[in-house]
Amino acid sequence: MTKRAVLAYSGGLDTSVTVRWLTDQGYDVHAVVVDVGQHDDFEAARARGDIAGAVDVRVVRSADRFAEEFVAHAIKANALYEGKYALVSSLARPLIAEEVVRVAREVGADALAHGCTGKGNDQVRFEVAFGALAPEMEVIAPVREPGIPREKAIALAEEWGIPIPTVANSYSIDENLWGRTAECGPLEDPWTAPEEDAYERTAAPSERPSEPAEIVVGFECGRPVSLDGSAKPLTQLVRELDDVAGSYGYGRVDMIENRRVGIKSREVYETPAALALITAHRALEDLTLEREVGHFKPGIEQRWADLVYDGLWFSPLREALDAFVAATQESVTGDVRLRFSSGECTVVGRRSETALYDHGLATYGAGDLFDQRHAEGFIRLWGLPLKVWSERRNRV
Ligand code: ARG
Repeated sequence: MTKRAVLAYSGGLDTSVTVRWLTDQGYDVHAVVVDVGQHDDFEAARARGDIAGAVDVRVVRSADRFAEEFVAHAIKANALYEGKYALVSSLARPLIAEEVVRVAREVGADALAHGCTGKGNDQVRFEVAFGALAPEMEVIAPVREPGIPREKAIALAEEWGIPIPTVANSYSIDENLWGRTAECGPLEDPWTAPEEDAYERTAAPSERPSEPAEIVVGFECGRPVSLDGSAKPLTQLVRELDDVAGSYGYGRVDMIENRRVGIKSREVYETPAALALITAHRALEDLTLEREVGHFKPGIEQRWADLVYDGLWFSPLREALDAFVAATQESVTGDVRLRFSSGECTVVGRRSETALYDHGLATYGAGDLFDQRHAEGFIRLWGLPLKVWSERRNRV
């Protein structure tokens, strides 16, 4: 009996080669393309899967689910790996794994497959997720097994007549609603500045508007819900903000990153909406979170980002951290004014019905409610330990 494998398929080079390789091994390949908001041509991906030899290519529309169940959490957690990377690929892998497992159960598959190399994080994320969701199933990673180098994969694709659009450029690209990632090719030299052709979602300096633009982002319980007062589903909101922020060239990140597999790598990211929303969300938290919560939460945020980066989405700790984050978000409702100019996004205003900012306490003008006499006693007790310590030191 022919064995069946369900493959996480993107339509790109590595996964197309994987389809053919699995077919040659005697598998019926069911390729699953998951739409997580990438700008791809899904019909072209479907056609490439057919040419590569898949018995079935399905496109699963999951962009809204990605926004609701993954991106919304990342915003509330201000999630940035190593302070810079908005977790684009890391966030999408668990969702793709879920869809692949769902199809695998439906077709009674023997194996789950992916087209990741053995040097990256995505193999870790897929396989840890597969293990958590379908521990009984075999996992095959053909690109890793025989160690097909990129040049060989390109040659194989040509030999097998699989048309690959990305062969033209030398970057390895991953993309979804939350951003775009580029690695490999000329970027492998950390000293070489990225050429403009590494970018797609952010305008080159010469193409940016000369006048700044302002956008008001509305939040409800930590979740962005409107732009300039008009309510939008999250997917649409992210897309629209991405276009505006990207037109100003905002959201480019050029970094050296520590992969889970121990390698340092040079990565170029474009995450205009992601960085703008996290910037806005933090500004609203500054206004609405109680001081101790505001000081404690960044530690949780960093742990959340590490965990998701490391492929541990389906874990009790991620769920527990999310519960903490959710508990902090009840008061994070209000508006943030963002101003975009070439390459920049600045917070220029914030307001909230649930603000803890109290004008009567803060003002130096009329209407001051703060009784300054209380400061004296407070400072006396606050500084008391140092006074005692200093007196003893002077004595000895
Ligand atoms: N370094 C990033 C991460 O680990 C991006 C990975 C991009 N993946 C890809 N298959 N090109 O999340």
